[in-house]
Amino acid sequence: MELFEAMEKRFSCRKFKNEKIKEEELNKVLEAGRLAPTACNYQPQRIFVIENPIILDKLKMATKYTFDAKTIIVICHDSTISWHRKDNVDHGIVDASIVATHMVLAATALNLGTCFVCSMNPTLIKEILGLSDSYVVDILLPIGYKDEEKTHNTRKDLSELVTRL
Ligand SMILES: Cc1cc2nc3c(=O)[nH]c(=O)nc-3n(C[C@H](O)[C@H](O)[C@H](O)COP(=O)(O)O)c2cc1C
Repeated sequence: MELFEAMEKRFSCRKFKNEKIKEEELNKVLEAGRLAPTACNYQPQRIFVIENPIILDKLKMATKYTFDAKTIIVICHDSTISWHRKDNVDHGIVDASIVATHMVLAATALNLGTCFVCSMNPTLIKEILGLSDSYVVDILLPIGYKDEEKTHNTRKDLSELVTRL
């Protein structure tokens, strides 16, 4: 699938088939995340692929938005590795967002469904996954075979979003 076609076709999928995605599809999605650029190329992203049913069940305590997907990718960054600007703003979440976007577009190109999920309890997720203090949980990506076909939500006109000076 061509890149612009994937951008157009992607939508937030919230209904998944009761099936795990194939290993080679998962690997392609993870590879897309690996190729993402990060500030200073520090590559602070730390990715957890959750397929264990017991852990998937526990994640339901930390978010309403698992959509019963059989695979959930948890995108974190290690704040001791991520680039901090001079004012000490941690840019790990920017890196994680780019990683997630690469993964989501790759998933779309593979005809897989995904949804960015940030409405969650990150402290509880850290506890469930046993993550060290320096890790920040940024985004959850339920991923799987779509059990719904939709178009993405409407977008504002460019004139509302862009100022040219
Ligand atoms: C940063 C971010 C966080 C989001 N968090 C959630 C979430 O917690 N739960 C959910 O159901 N959708 C979540 N979404 C999906 C958005 O609601 C969705 O992308 C938006 O309504 C546009 O719809 P579309 O993706 O189908 O175009 C999130 C999207 C983004 C980009």
